Formats: sequence, C-alpha cells, structure tokens
Amino acid sequence: MSEKITLSVIKADVGGFVGHCAIHPDMMEVARKRLKEAQDRGVIIDFHVMRCGDDMELIMTHKKGADSEEIHKLAWNTFLAATEVAKELKMYGAGQDLLADAFSGNVKGMGPGVAEMEFVERKSEPVIVFMADKTSPGAWNLPLFKIFADPFNTAGLVIDPAMHDGFIFEVVDVYGHRKINLNTPEEMYDLLMFIGTMRQYMIRRIYTKKGEIAAAASTQKLSLIAGKYVGKDDPILIVRCQAGLPAVGEALEPFSFPHIVEGWMRGSHHGPLMPVPFEKANPTRFDGPPRVIAAGFQIANGRLIGPRDLFDDPAFDYARQKANEIGNYLRVHGPFEPHRLGLDDLEYTTMPQLMKRLESRFEPE
Ligand code: F6R
Ligand code: MG
Ligand code: MG
Repeated sequence: MSEKITLSVIKADVGGFVGHCAIHPDMMEVARKRLKEAQDRGVIIDFHVMRCGDDMELIMTHKKGADSEEIHKLAWNTFLAATEVAKELKMYGAGQDLLADAFSGNVKGMGPGVAEMEFVERKSEPVIVFMADKTSPGAWNLPLFKIFADPFNTAGLVIDPAMHDGFIFEVVDVYGHRKINLNTPEEMYDLLMFIGTMRQYMIRRIYTKKGEIAAAASTQKLSLIAGKYVGKDDPILIVRCQAGLPAVGEALEPFSFPHIVEGWMRGSHHGPLMPVPFEKANPTRFDGPPRVIAAGFQIANGRLIGPRDLFDDPAFDYARQKANEIGNYLRVHGPFEPHRLGLDDLEYTTMPQLMKRLESRFEPE
C-alpha cells in the first residue's frame, strides 16, 4: 500500500467511575459499538477503544487525513453516546470534556485532545500510543527530548547512521498561540530553554531531517478553552519506532524515570508520572499520582495489530516504586509549594475568586 494512512487518537473524559479514577465498562462498550459501525460503513479501517484513568481514548486508522471533519465528528458523536450512558448511570462529571454545545467541524478547541499523523506505511510499522491521566501535555516534553535528542537515552542517535542527523522539534507556545521549529542537535540548548517551561511550551510534532513524521502529541489545554479549571488535559502521544527512528525500547526508556509533572489532585499539584500496565491505570491515591500507559501496535495495511501493554514489564517496577517514594515525599508538603502548583499555574482555578474576595482586606505594610 503506497497511499498514506492516518492514525488518529482522540480522547476525552466524559464521566468517571468512581469520581475521577476510571470509566464504566458500559461506556467503553457503547463507544466500541459506535466505532464498529463506522468501520462497517468503511469510514475507518480499524480502531481500538482504550482508557487511561477516566479518559476514553479512541485510536483509529483511516485514509481521510488529519483534521478530517468526518473522523472528528465520529469521535464527537462517540463521546456523546458514551456521555448518554454516563448520564444514565450518574457517572461523575458526565460529558465534562465536551465543552461545546454542538460539533463544528473539528474537535480541537471543543474539549477533546487530539494527536494525528499521516504516513506511508513502511515495510513494518511499529508505533506506540502513550496515554496519560491527571497531567497536562507538557508532561511529554522531557521524555520526547530524551527519546529524540539525548544520546544517553537513545543509542541510535550515535550508532544508527539514519538517526545521526537528528530531528526537528515543533514547539507550541500555548499562551502566545504561535509555534517554532527547532533542530537538534544544533539548537539543542535553545530547545531546552523553551521546553523546560512545560506549562507554556509544548512539543507538538517531531520530524526527521528528511521531513518524515516521527511523533505527534496533543497540546490542547482545557483551561485555555474554557477560561477556567475544568479538569486536566490528560494528554496523548504517538511515536513511530524502529528502522531509522527510535527503537521501541528507546521510546520507553525515559519512563524508567518518573519525572515530576503538573496535575494530580484538582490539577493543582506536582507529582511523579508513574508508568503502569493498562489495568493499573486507576489513579486513586489523592486522585493520582499521574499515570501513563503505552500501547504498542504494528500497523498492517491500516489494521492495528495489538495493543501490546508495553509497561507490563518488571523492568518498570523500579520506576513505580520510585514514583511512590516521590509521591510520599511530596504529599507531606500538603498545601505548600512545590507540591501545590505556584500561583501562575493556579490562575484558572479558584485562586482568582479567593483573591477577589480578599482584595479589599490587603493594606500597605
Ligand atoms: C484532576 C481531577 C480531580 C478533581 C477532584 C475534584 O484532574 O479531575 O482531581 O479535580 O476530584 O473534583 P470535583 O471538583 O469535581 O469534586
Ligand atoms: Mg475526570
Ligand atoms: Mg482524566
């Protein structure tokens, strides 16, 4: 097959079981039914409905390109159908991420998170779909840098002539509504200056120097769409692997270090990102700590062969243990920074209301 296929991953939280920690099986069932109908109609080639915590993840292949109205509408309607079930069962926060009243062409800006890429299938096409809960898209900055620019993580950058030229990082300034392309290794230090500020600068796409897509992440921030705190964004990331791109093991390696991300309880705390098998993606302790799962697929003529549960490996036990240690340590800080986020990060929570209420009681010291 030489024609391009599109891999679309679209996600939303449309109701939690119980609270914000998981999704009811009946909601998953109705979503699968909807996508199966679309597959039978020939709209999509293949699909998987997964979940990470309370986030429903629609993984779809098709030939309609990125930003296809038909595919986005299918995702929106699937979330609506799951919301109906969530409402019947009085699930918590039914339909919470569907911020618009009606679908209008593209789900971006309407609440759901989107990561899509188009490519011509290689002789063998291994991809990983990473899905996180209780955190925001900036959580991918550190692992993506390590995967595509750090030779201490990715041996291929040194050893594989096909990777030796490095990669192009597309970085989005989510507050400035602009983006910039930066090349590694040449502009590595410039890149780090931006992406170290995870709340504002987020890696959206990564390309080879020949322009081939290698990674795509969701960068939608719900609070910026809604103008107030409405739940964390709980991002997704697609990474293509092998044969001139990072090996599967190189793409997973950064997650052996549970780095600190923002999210966790009320989206207002720093905590470690814990890599877990699919069945363990149920963030319950203090609504967390933040989770990440990794679903591996071989794509064969658009068919999604998988998923393989890639963090279901005792080699990640240490990261999980470390995440618990870091979680314990941070939790003792209670409402104090740096466990609780700084004021800038709380601008879309209840903090502005509190400040307004107490404003008149402030006096010069
Ligand atoms: C984090 C998250 C939860 C809720 C928390 C309070 O992303 O969704 O931690 O913020 O459970 O939820 P409400 O305000 O709905 O009671
Ligand atoms: Mg939720
Ligand atoms: Mg969530």
